[in-house]
Amino acid sequence: MKYFVKTYGCQMNVHESEKLNGMLESLGYVACDNEKNADIIVFNTCAIRDGVEQKIFGNIGALKSLKKQKKDLIIAVCGCMSQAEGRAKTIKEKFPFVNIIFGTHNIHKLKDYILSYRESRKSQIDVWDNEQGIFEDIDIKRDNINSNAWVNIIYGCNNFCSYCIVPYVRGRERSRSINDIVTEVKDLISQGFKYITLLGQNVNSYGNDLKDGTNFSKLLTTLANLDGDFRIKFMSSHPKDFTDEVIDTIAKYDKIAKVIHLPVQSGSTNILKAMNRKYTREHYLQVINKIKERIPNVYISTDIIVGFPGETEDDFMDTYSLVEQVRFDGVFAFIYSIRSGTVAANMQNQIPEPIKNERVNRLLKLTKFITKENNKNLIDKEFNVFVKDKVDNTYLVTTDSGKNITVIDENEMKIGEFYKVKITAFEKDKLIAKLV
Ligand code: 5AD
Ligand code: SF4
Repeated sequence: MKYFVKTYGCQMNVHESEKLNGMLESLGYVACDNEKNADIIVFNTCAIRDGVEQKIFGNIGALKSLKKQKKDLIIAVCGCMSQAEGRAKTIKEKFPFVNIIFGTHNIHKLKDYILSYRESRKSQIDVWDNEQGIFEDIDIKRDNINSNAWVNIIYGCNNFCSYCIVPYVRGRERSRSINDIVTEVKDLISQGFKYITLLGQNVNSYGNDLKDGTNFSKLLTTLANLDGDFRIKFMSSHPKDFTDEVIDTIAKYDKIAKVIHLPVQSGSTNILKAMNRKYTREHYLQVINKIKERIPNVYISTDIIVGFPGETEDDFMDTYSLVEQVRFDGVFAFIYSIRSGTVAANMQNQIPEPIKNERVNRLLKLTKFITKENNKNLIDKEFNVFVKDKVDNTYLVTTDSGKNITVIDENEMKIGEFYKVKITAFEKDKLIAKLV
């Protein structure tokens, strides 16, 4: 019996699919790499923008003929889209061949739904209205891509940014206990994972709900003091909670990767206010300056939404100039997408599509130019790298941020270990380095 899990969306979903895979394997299913060969297909869905939802609907629809050929095929849909208001009903009506539908709060029940369906052949539709705490002890089948293991530290979001559907589909913030996190991380280090990436919608809020004085910075400190050769990464962070204590902790420990994803969303204080982001342009720039001052060679990336309701050309230029000023190492720019049920969906001054498209293209042009310049400036800089592969005397290594570098060196480096290298040359998109 074979399974195929298709994942849409963010790293949270990528990791949750590892849990789905684990549960499927504990039922005796084995992985396959093609929907056509599978006995069970699970779509783990996303609802962040309308485009992704339309794509998922299309892909579910395309399973109809497969189901016709294979009567015993089980099709399940779960994740943020099934959790979003009204979607389970739509899926049921439009695609009656889908057998199992569940949301984000009950993924631990997958095995029950499969067993019940196999016994009764009746569709299993179960979307819970609210989160019900945290379910530990779920089987996980880790993908082990680039020696990275994902670890949830906090679920849900309390921020209610006015454009965002996440608080509605992932519930309120729930932090895992520090003991559960430390136990999991120690086990992953002993299994040989070299990167541990802590996951949460807003990792900086970690501990707020525990009321025992624990916070994100203390968690980072505890993990950075564990024995072993590994690096800690984390995502995503909220600028309003990115404290000096967090910055200093990242700066202090070699075991914490110098990689920060800090979504700004807009460079205009007016738009940030309408977005309910709870910080100003000036505050964001202050945080960035502190990060750059205290953490040399730090890699900073961001998310930006273009065309939020009411965004004027001046507001957009505030975003443009902020990107010019910060010179991010990575920018993920999105066109604003109306999410029904959110506050921004009811705002009157929606921006026409052609204007949104023109603005996002202008921004992408700028970010391309900055990336090129940033790469040129890397010459002579030193980086911690992880060795991925070796061909003759050439090693393929990656920085903590995932940038690929070729190292040409007579010295012996071991695959799977960390080294420090210095960038010596830059050819087109290729970075060349030497061992330090
Ligand atoms: N439209 C466009 N982009 C969005 N994001 C979240 N909600 C929306 C929306 N309604 C973006 C934000 C967030 C990233 C994960 O997705 O930039 O940081
Ligand atoms: Fe959405 Fe804002 Fe929460 Fe991020 S912090 S998940 S953008 S509501």
